[in-house]
Amino acid sequence: MIRHVPHPTLGGRSLLSLMNHPAEAVRHLLDLADSLKTDPEWPKALAGRSVALVFDQPSTRTRVSFEVGITRLGGHPVVLAGRDMQLGRGETIEDTAKVLSRFVDAIVIRTVDHATVAALAGHADVPVINALTHDHHPCQGLADVMTIREHFGEVAGLRAAYVGDGNNCCHSLMVAGALMGMEVVAGCPEGYLPDPPVVERADEIARAHGGSVAVVTDPREAVDGARAVYTDVWVSMGDEGEEAERLRTFSPYRVDEALMAAAAPDAIALHPLPAHDGLEITRAVYHGPRSAVWDEAENRLYVQAALLMNILG
Ligand code: CP
Ligand code: NVA
Repeated sequence: MIRHVPHPTLGGRSLLSLMNHPAEAVRHLLDLADSLKTDPEWPKALAGRSVALVFDQPSTRTRVSFEVGITRLGGHPVVLAGRDMQLGRGETIEDTAKVLSRFVDAIVIRTVDHATVAALAGHADVPVINALTHDHHPCQGLADVMTIREHFGEVAGLRAAYVGDGNNCCHSLMVAGALMGMEVVAGCPEGYLPDPPVVERADEIARAHGGSVAVVTDPREAVDGARAVYTDVWVSMGDEGEEAERLRTFSPYRVDEALMAAAAPDAIALHPLPAHDGLEITRAVYHGPRSAVWDEAENRLYVQAALLMNILG
């Protein structure tokens, strides 16, 4: 039986980006996630608690993993599609935050605009968890680092490469990796580099823990020596209007067997999914022997359950 022991927590705090969370609390959260994975007897840490799951954009993994995780912890997930809420008819985020706070103990939200989630957190009386915005995907970043730890043990100093669009998943890998003292290198084309303030903050965090964060434009340079090679879609939710140009720009950044061969011999391939065979990654890689994408998807369940235990425990 997993005990919920006192430790440096994210207690009562919202999770928007991981950029302002202590490394010690995040490390403890990952340890708890590891325990939840190995011990099927989960504590009913959320008994009597309700968590709203607001989805303004499609989701498979995030929705199912939160819903299953909350239920296994004895809580009650309330799944809401943004378009079915009064939000879709113009009720403000402020009023929505105040009302949901009277009913539930935490709000998980997926929406494109990061400022919306920040406003929700600003007006809510309960913690808010970002389940993906255009800028950050912190739950994914936690699962990514959990997966890398699972494969390699201690990850401080381990080099991970992100290849492709400098997007939400790139940002969250950088920050989560930085908190663990990893060396994260993003290889992205000009015009699609990760946001400089995020890179600077991630590098600052990484350096405080013996790691580093860097950006290059050559995918081969990025993967050189990398033990994890990570990519994500070239057209994120909200970017659909730029599809043709993006597909042209990103084609040299495809993660295929040749690019994997340029990484460390024991490198694993990561992708948050859903994947597009022959675009950002090839089926031979993400269905191949070096793929860790299915573990990575499964690990969403454990990091998010640990997160809810940590925040609401
Ligand atoms: N990786 C991820 O967030 O997947 P979904 O969009 O299916 O939730
Ligand atoms: N970058 C992608 C991630 C999907 C899980 C998007 O935002 O659509």
